[in-house]
Amino acid sequence: MTERFLIASNGDSLARLAAELFCGWVWEAIGKSAGQVARVAISGGSTPRAMNRELATMDVPWGKIELFWVDERAVPPTSDRSNYGAAKADLFGKLKKPPRGLFAMPGAATDLDAAARGYESAIARTFGMPASDAASAKYPSFDLVMLGIGDDGHTASLFPGDATVDVTDRWVIPVPAAEGREARLTLTRPVITAAKRVVVLAQGEKKKGPIGLARKAGALREIPSRLVQEVKGELVWLVDAAAVEAAAG
Ligand code: 6PG
Repeated sequence: MTERFLIASNGDSLARLAAELFCGWVWEAIGKSAGQVARVAISGGSTPRAMNRELATMDVPWGKIELFWVDERAVPPTSDRSNYGAAKADLFGKLKKPPRGLFAMPGAATDLDAAARGYESAIARTFGMPASDAASAKYPSFDLVMLGIGDDGHTASLFPGDATVDVTDRWVIPVPAAEGREARLTLTRPVITAAKRVVVLAQGEKKKGPIGLARKAGALREIPSRLVQEVKGELVWLVDAAAVEAAAG
């Protein structure tokens, strides 16, 4: 794995930098792929929203992008908790032409396990892999996975204390509701870490501690964002100055 920090001075410049880098990374993936396609998975939460609004103003090759989500809340797409709903409001609802593939996670499904398996099938079709590979430790390698990091050290919808971070025989799993948190759907750790590039987008002072913990050795169940230490390709911390330790004097 290679790891690097890209640091913007504040939230506004972080959003612009993230949007510009996103564009560059997808063009790089398109150029490298036989099929002239980039396969990307994006996260939800609040941090990516400013980046998405910037992307809506840019010339992104959406016609060459197969777009998936890293995770989704178990809510309808019209809910203000929906990651897809937010991305539609900030970005996809503004596009003249949709992405080549846009695969919202079916958060509103009544049977989340069946929905997870259906999403695995969509990933398998896009990657030209048998869906059965999900159970046999073969994983799709996304060109780009955009992650956030929670104040509690979660990433995707892999939360501290849950066994979900240890699941390796699925690509997508349901996550049960917990105190103050609706049920979720999420990519699993091995799918995330199989990506050619994993980018953690984080902004603000509150992310300093979780980033530090994610980079330290320790139990995955304690800090699931430690999964970034297993990234096979490139790991990029795309942050604002407030989110990183003051540079050593
Ligand atoms: C979600 C996200 C989640 C998010 C982190 C950070 O569905 O909530 O995928 O993993 O990335 O919670 O969220 P913020 O960007 O809001 O801090």
